[in-house]
Amino acid sequence: MLKQIENRRSVRKYFNQKIESEKLTQILESARLAPSGSNTQPWSFIIVESEDTKEKLSFADHHQKWMMTAPVFIVCVADIRCRISADIEVKLDENSSQPELKQIIRDTSIAMEHILLEAEHLGLAACWTAWFEQAAVRPILNIPEDKYVCGIITLGYGDETPKPQLRKPLEEIIRYEKW
Ligand SMILES: Cc1cc2nc3c(=O)[nH]c(=O)nc-3n(C[C@H](O)[C@H](O)[C@H](O)COP(=O)(O)O)c2cc1C
Repeated sequence: MLKQIENRRSVRKYFNQKIESEKLTQILESARLAPSGSNTQPWSFIIVESEDTKEKLSFADHHQKWMMTAPVFIVCVADIRCRISADIEVKLDENSSQPELKQIIRDTSIAMEHILLEAEHLGLAACWTAWFEQAAVRPILNIPEDKYVCGIITLGYGDETPKPQLRKPLEEIIRYEKW
């Protein structure tokens, strides 16, 4: 496990090669099995393969043109309705102070990391992207205003081997018994 965690990279260039549907299903299964607070499972995943929709999404995502080399985008959406009743009106965006928003983003992020690691395990490559505003991405996919897009993961066979990015040493991040 640690070897695969160590080998994972954010990959921003992909071969023009389709992903086998069994592999995509296995990756989504890894997300489905993620833990979440009170087992609320607030996530939904929109699989995007159409060139037209990918184009619109990458444009909304700070026009990161490299994204278009990926055959599949997984748009990862957090749903606050697992914590807030359907009759209460909620509109979510980057400035929302709704406390439950933190919880659903936290939980959906765990599932997203499962996707990155399962992709690595299957010999695929991925990159989490999130350089967008909710208002720009939502209308492209008809996502309602009570949902929050946590990120768009690009997925495919990697056509680059990025160098490892530096991480802080353990001594800097571990404390014992107290702060
Ligand atoms: C929440 C989040 C948002 C990110 N957004 C982007 C992005 O929009 N574009 C991009 O190229 N990389 C993005 N990344 C990838 C990071 O830049 C990358 O994880 C970091 O530099 C460490 O590199 P590594 O993943 O190869 O270890 C994002 C990563 C995370 C976790």
